[in-house]
Amino acid sequence: MAIQISPSILSADFARLADEVEAVAGAADWLHVDVMDNHFVPNLTLGLPVVESLLKVAPLPLDCHLMIEDPDRWAPAYAEVGAQSVTIHAEAAKAPVRTLRAIRAAGARAGLALNPATPVDGYADLLGEIDMLLVMTVEPGFGGQKFLDLVLPKIRRARELIRNADASVWLQVDGGVSAETIERCAEAGADVFVAGSAVYGEKDPAAAVEHLRALAERATAR
Ligand code: DX5
Ligand code: ZN
Repeated sequence: MAIQISPSILSADFARLADEVEAVAGAADWLHVDVMDNHFVPNLTLGLPVVESLLKVAPLPLDCHLMIEDPDRWAPAYAEVGAQSVTIHAEAAKAPVRTLRAIRAAGARAGLALNPATPVDGYADLLGEIDMLLVMTVEPGFGGQKFLDLVLPKIRRARELIRNADASVWLQVDGGVSAETIERCAEAGADVFVAGSAVYGEKDPAAAVEHLRALAERATAR
């Protein structure tokens, strides 16, 4: 299980996105792009045109987290323009199997996200359809929220289901992940860590990524 860090540009300076991306280029594994539509979540960020522009300059693959209504209609396009990973929310998708297959068919990794109150057990049968399961550790919508410890049992349960299914599914956590909370997530079985404020809120974002990675690696080695 290799530890991966995916800095969220939600906490970056949107007027200087190319520079902000460059700041973590040598340190991070992915760039986490939060797409919010002001309907599925009470916040509005960016969409397909910005993702297309980022793809032209980004030195890292894009991990697009779609917090939008009707992902069945909009998600495949993110994969078609070249995003390397596209994650949809289980709560928003009406035909998740079809949409996840369309994402894969367009050449991207397919991800399924679960809000804090959404149980994972009902999705065990979909593990063969996905490359990554995202367990949200805050209610989606905003950066800088407090990590929800109540999600830790679900991370453990998700890791157990992945192991039982013998599936090569990455287990991502997103929300409130910091130097203070990352070890708990890693111990529970997460292997891909999104961090917004804990990376872009620091003076040296690349050093922050390396520090988070070291903490997660140490926690999984224990
Ligand atoms: C929240 C987003 C996160 C957000 C995380 O809805 O999905 O990706 O950027 O920000 P932090 O790490 O500050 O909680
Ligand atoms: Zn996110």
